[in-house]
Amino acid sequence: MNKPVKQVHLAALFPVNHMTTWRDPRAGSQVDFASYSHLARTAEKGKFDAFLLADFPRLVEHRGQVSDVGVAGQLDQITVLSALASVTDRIGLAATVNATFNEPFDVARKLATLDHLSGGRCGWNVVTTPDAWTGENFRRGGYLPHADRYLRAAEFVDVARTLWDGWGPRGATRFHHEGPHFRIDGRFTVPTCPQVHPFTIQAGDSEQGREFAAATAEMIYSRHLGLAGQAFYADVKRRVARHGRAPEHVKIMPGVSFVLGDCDEDARANAALAQRRAVSPQLAVWYLERTWGRDLSAYDPDGPLPDIDPDPEAAPPEWPGLADAAVRSRRAEKWRALAAEQNLGIRELVMKLTAGRPFIGTPARVAEQMNDYVQSDGADGFVLVPRYAPGGLDEFVDRVVPELQDRGVLRTEYSGRTLRGHFGLPAPTGHQPSSILSTIRVVDRPST
Ligand SMILES: Cc1cc2nc3c(=O)[nH]c(=O)nc-3n(C[C@H](O)[C@H](O)[C@H](O)COP(=O)(O)O)c2cc1C
Repeated sequence: MNKPVKQVHLAALFPVNHMTTWRDPRAGSQVDFASYSHLARTAEKGKFDAFLLADFPRLVEHRGQVSDVGVAGQLDQITVLSALASVTDRIGLAATVNATFNEPFDVARKLATLDHLSGGRCGWNVVTTPDAWTGENFRRGGYLPHADRYLRAAEFVDVARTLWDGWGPRGATRFHHEGPHFRIDGRFTVPTCPQVHPFTIQAGDSEQGREFAAATAEMIYSRHLGLAGQAFYADVKRRVARHGRAPEHVKIMPGVSFVLGDCDEDARANAALAQRRAVSPQLAVWYLERTWGRDLSAYDPDGPLPDIDPDPEAAPPEWPGLADAAVRSRRAEKWRALAAEQNLGIRELVMKLTAGRPFIGTPARVAEQMNDYVQSDGADGFVLVPRYAPGGLDEFVDRVVPELQDRGVLRTEYSGRTLRGHFGLPAPTGHQPSSILSTIRVVDRPST
């Protein structure tokens, strides 16, 4: 039997802490509402499913100072999305809201309100923000051990869904929740919203993160492409089935960028130029300093890598993955070997390390690559991350979207009004309080 042709789903990410997006000479301001509305409306013109805001609840710092490499500062997402609801009509509006530092009653209220204001277009990317350093901004000193972060997140989503279900035909009913992280009682204040439960997105990657996603998410924002993406896809879909859910009810969407050209050669030249523009000499040195934990400003960005070793005492608190001196030392060794083997200076090395896997080619070729990847079960669609904003999505929508539409894999008109409807997913039915928590707990605590 022939496999049915899958539709390609698309979301657009409004880039915030991406190091160079807002430094591009074509970029606008990341706090100007016109930037948000331009990008969201462009994505809506391209019939995207969703517009997504990332969230970084602490500024990027470098060696104790606010970093001047990226752009500093971000607006509150739900407020921005509420404003966007009035200048867009169909596209989903998704906020990244972490479950580690917030309280469910408050988050559930804001998301339900956005769902009302937007007519059923609200999405929630449930993240668990890993580090104590970010947690310093919050009341509790704010961090949890890794496994507990997902237990809290599972309970958080359980509670939020219970609250969203809390209105019956005669108004608000009473809720009572008592669990390891939350003990709350009362009546939810927001009447049942159009999607009943705002659309759920997840972006974690660890064992627990995948289990949590398999139990709760309707879309997964992943970082895996190529063969690793296909393995991720198969793994997560298997987990979804194990949680008693239909695998096609969870859409897997890797983050990608793209570079277009009038012919393949032109596109490759544009990609090289874009990467050169993205990695300034200053950024290249900064990138190395994170691992070395030393001031490397005296090094020539076009010269060889430092021959001194990383400072074992100087772990950057803002990069928890680099806390271990041995990890930093191994990484420095690996980079030195790569640079020596390929005869790369500091900047060239960083350009290589940060290149990612953009789709590169003519609009037809990019559409073909994207579609092939979806049809071969590497993904169900993509989260597009423009290289500059807000205009960086324009040429994709003008030139690649029609190619996808010609292939019959992207809608030419919206058929529904809700974000969940755009993904073709069924409305939520009968949430069982504590069901998510119990499935996650089984995985995280096999011995108890
Ligand atoms: C593609 C992707 C995007 C993410 N975006 C955010 C974000 O905007 N804000 C945030 O606080 N965490 C974000 N995260 C972090 C995850 O939610 C999660 O906290 C992190 O990956 C650690 O969890 P893990 O150990 O399960 O991977 C993102 C993760 C991935 C993979």
